Amino acid sequence: MQDILTQSLEESDPQLAEIIRREEERQQNTLELIASENHVSVAVRSVTGSVFTNKYAEGYPGRRYYGGCSNMDAVEDLARERAKKLFNAEHANVQPHSGASANIAVYMASLNPGDTMLSLDLAHGGHLSHGLKVNISGRLYNIVPYGVSRENERIDMAEVRRLALECKPKVILAGFSAYPRELDFAAFGEIAKEVGARLMSDIAHIAGPIAVGLHPTPVPHSDFVTTTTHKTLRGPRGGMILCRAEDAKLVDKWIFPGTQGGPLMHIIAAKAAAFGEALKPEFKQYQQQILDNAKALAESLQSHGYRLVSGGTDNHLLLVDLRDVHPDLTGKQAEAWLETAGIITNKNMIPFDERKPTQTSGLRLGTPALTTRGLKEGEMRTVAGLIHRVLSADGDEAVAEKLRNEIRELCAQFPVPHA
Ligand SMILES: Cc1ncc(COP(=O)(O)O)c(C=O)c1O
Repeated sequence: MQDILTQSLEESDPQLAEIIRREEERQQNTLELIASENHVSVAVRSVTGSVFTNKYAEGYPGRRYYGGCSNMDAVEDLARERAKKLFNAEHANVQPHSGASANIAVYMASLNPGDTMLSLDLAHGGHLSHGLKVNISGRLYNIVPYGVSRENERIDMAEVRRLALECKPKVILAGFSAYPRELDFAAFGEIAKEVGARLMSDIAHIAGPIAVGLHPTPVPHSDFVTTTTHKTLRGPRGGMILCRAEDAKLVDKWIFPGTQGGPLMHIIAAKAAAFGEALKPEFKQYQQQILDNAKALAESLQSHGYRLVSGGTDNHLLLVDLRDVHPDLTGKQAEAWLETAGIITNKNMIPFDERKPTQTSGLRLGTPALTTRGLKEGEMRTVAGLIHRVLSADGDEAVAEKLRNEIRELCAQFPVPHA
């Protein structure tokens, strides 16, 4: 018998190898429209599986609690320097295991239990780590939500200011999971200054366009910027915090030892690889294409009669209100029908939704993953047509099967990046 340490996965664990093979096949043969997902490069994937996974490196470069860390220091310094360059930031902490972990560390650095934080309502596009009652953020802090206006479904900065003056928050959080418009970080910064709050900007969704200057940057206006590294930024799954030099020690302390143990060095190495890719000129073209694709998808869905929250999109995502075209169709049912045909989406609340979060009246669609595969505006129009045909088929299995084949053919023309 061959040694388990040197066998291929197929030999040592065919059951697991088969699950991975099926997932590769699923990703290749479906259209990924979840706004927070992407397909990483071959380089990012291979670094994620590199020998850095073997190493403990508690602490920070030059100040580790373990021996043998010289290459850990080199790779973490590389990731930090690239992150700072990419976002023009004074300090970067690349150790957060995820976006939620980055947020918790910033809360610990800037709030005491019971303090007030003003953040975007989850039902209007906020994220659960921004104050949902069952999340640690909602358990520990007094959360005051701001929302979008009924008239234009955009964040009304006058209303944010009014609420801030009224509730005197210690932190104002600018950031979203499902909001299709630009954020005015400069206005958030002014309000924070006026009321003596610290501004935290969670750019998980829009880190990619911000990095290349296609969305205004929050960096000079914010005390803390948190992000994931795996969405539009197209890196490994993980998080990051940016801040001014004067807050560097505070942020670092609240990641380690405050809220985390040993850093995931293989992920930090892959973050360095992804930031390196993001610093190349092609990445700006990629980000521009994401935005162009989102506009094309939006316009095409509108031409099929769909109403989009706020009337369109400025970024990589759109929120489709299903009710005009399909009054009885929930987001939950739409998501399931689309998946059967090979289009992967997620149900989403629309602002002032009358349906429950488990049902919803909306769908959230995003273009980062399809853009990575090389689809452009013309294909976006095809995709919009496919979505409309699936949703109009009322669950008819024969129609779904026919569309499934069309979608497979489209997928075959645009392979996902392969090792
Ligand atoms: C705005 C925002 N912040 C934080 C997160 C959490 O990131 P993670 O899932 O890596 O914890 C997300 C994830 O979707 C997000 O959209």
